[in-house]
Amino acid sequence: MLKRTHMCGTLRSDHEGTEVVVCGWVNTYRDHSSGLIFIDLRDREGLVQVVFDGDDADAAVVEAGRGLRREDVVAIKGSVRARAGGANPRLATGDIEVVATAIEILAKTDTPPILPDEHEAEKIAEENRLKYRFIDLRRPRMQEILKTRSLVTRTARDYFMDHGFLEIETPLLIKTTPEGARDFIVPARLHPGKWYALPQSPQLFKQILMVAGCDRYIQICKCLRDEDPRADRQAEFTQIDLEMSFVDRDDVISMMTGFARRLWKDVLDVEIGEIPSMTYAEAMDRYGIDRPDTRYGLELNDVSEIAARTDFRVFAEALAKETGCVKAIRVPGGAEIFTRKVTDGYTAFVRDFGAGGAPTTKLTENGFETGVAKFLEPIKDELIAALGLEVGDAVVFACDTRTIATRALGELRQKIAQDTDAIPEGKWNFVWVIDFPMFERDEENGRWVALHHPFTSPNPGQFDILESDPGGCLSAGYDLVLNGSEIGGGSIRIHDQEVQAKVFKLLGLSQEEAREKFGFLLDALRFGAPPHGGVAFGLDRLVMHLVGTDNIRDVIAFPKTQSGGDLMTDAPGPVDASQLEETHVQSTAEVDDAG
Ligand code: AMO
Repeated sequence: MLKRTHMCGTLRSDHEGTEVVVCGWVNTYRDHSSGLIFIDLRDREGLVQVVFDGDDADAAVVEAGRGLRREDVVAIKGSVRARAGGANPRLATGDIEVVATAIEILAKTDTPPILPDEHEAEKIAEENRLKYRFIDLRRPRMQEILKTRSLVTRTARDYFMDHGFLEIETPLLIKTTPEGARDFIVPARLHPGKWYALPQSPQLFKQILMVAGCDRYIQICKCLRDEDPRADRQAEFTQIDLEMSFVDRDDVISMMTGFARRLWKDVLDVEIGEIPSMTYAEAMDRYGIDRPDTRYGLELNDVSEIAARTDFRVFAEALAKETGCVKAIRVPGGAEIFTRKVTDGYTAFVRDFGAGGAPTTKLTENGFETGVAKFLEPIKDELIAALGLEVGDAVVFACDTRTIATRALGELRQKIAQDTDAIPEGKWNFVWVIDFPMFERDEENGRWVALHHPFTSPNPGQFDILESDPGGCLSAGYDLVLNGSEIGGGSIRIHDQEVQAKVFKLLGLSQEEAREKFGFLLDALRFGAPPHGGVAFGLDRLVMHLVGTDNIRDVIAFPKTQSGGDLMTDAPGPVDASQLEETHVQSTAEVDDAG
């Protein structure tokens, strides 16, 4: 068997005159009228041109070359020479070619159902790319993504090892996790009627590792959450997860800022510099969202006071509500794009977020025109001054309770940014969002729910108001946001069992329930817990940013579809009746189907 000496994509003019053996897949095949046969041979590192020429090789070798078809797997021996037909500057190996002297066909392929061509990829239905993932992954772009992902995990290991972290594995078959999504559950054969949960994150174990004296922990781990996939969300995803002892919030933030800086430098050769922080309150106020995209303006302005001075019924009704407010966005030059069709679309859009509508208007040479212009007449000058309006601008309002108006306008802001091409390319706007509220009210049942998870500590100085003013109590949680996407989140934890008990109580968890669910953590907190905190970065999302895709499936070798299926293996699938019996499980699925 021919033994490989070089990867196809690594050959250069330096190799001219060298005898090489290259192995790979036939990428293209050309039978030239001159009698020469050309193939491009592809491996992970790229393409190289191979020539079969009767002057250099036996007739049998040329004949074997002539029989090659796309995606056949071959080993080729030959010598490297400068390209006889002139260099191809589009290819890294474009200065040279390999003149074949021997060939071994390692695998003939059936007609491939899809081809790994970059220019064809867009035209192939994603279902087919996922079903034949072993071919799709041969594409250079996919290979680049896998390499970048590998570089990210390597950089993470290097960086955190350099900073004294230990890589420690935590179990997959566990009790339950507090991240708030639905658990995937696994029947316990040896414990009839009992179930394991798969971890939504290693949260409780990493805290216990701190109690266990491990000081600094890191793990690159799978997390499993039974929730609907989205463009940047999979049920099975990976975190770069860590925890540190004897630290405060700034220590964790500075460690992770250093990591982000190192990552962008090593992968993209980009200096991201210091990362600014912004409080949750400011993010909500200016951007209407806790993961602000600061690459563009279109900020939200509270114009309630001014709006109260006109008798527009819609404003008045909103302002009459308990936390009612009127917020507005100035859209520079928006007058041109704010057609009736567009503004009707905005009204429909904000309805999904609970707002009644999105009143709009435009500023022209003659004052406000179209939309709600006539109602703004009494407050025209004040509004122009408050929003800094210029002729040609458009204004869009949201009015309702503060929560609804802010959220609706925050979401609409992102849509307007896309519609008006306001998002600049090539910017890396990182921001740490801090000072989250500890709790928010569940609108359905009025109960407090933790904004991060229930092990998140109040900020220093906030412990006193934890019970007296839970809604006003700020937490020591932090999220890292990049260009409007949450790429990481964490917190300083509660390490005092009494504080932990108070938080559980506020969350409506009885002592018995807390013991039943998290008894082991509560025990650990009783026996010498150091102050500690940590964070998890979403590895998939980091890679999405680094390679420039907005589809999470592009950065996972074997992802699931929107409905949670794996099209290649056909999972999930049925199991044998005996497996159900062994694990003491009875399926009601047939009953459900019939019903
Ligand atoms: P959190 O739930 O915020 O925190 O997750 C941390 C980061 O993981 C990424 N992420 C996801 N990525 C892809 N698909 C998903 N379904 C998904 N869910 C989350 C995000 C997010 O910022 N235990 C805590 C961390 C801690 O407190 O230390 C946790 O899991 O980028």
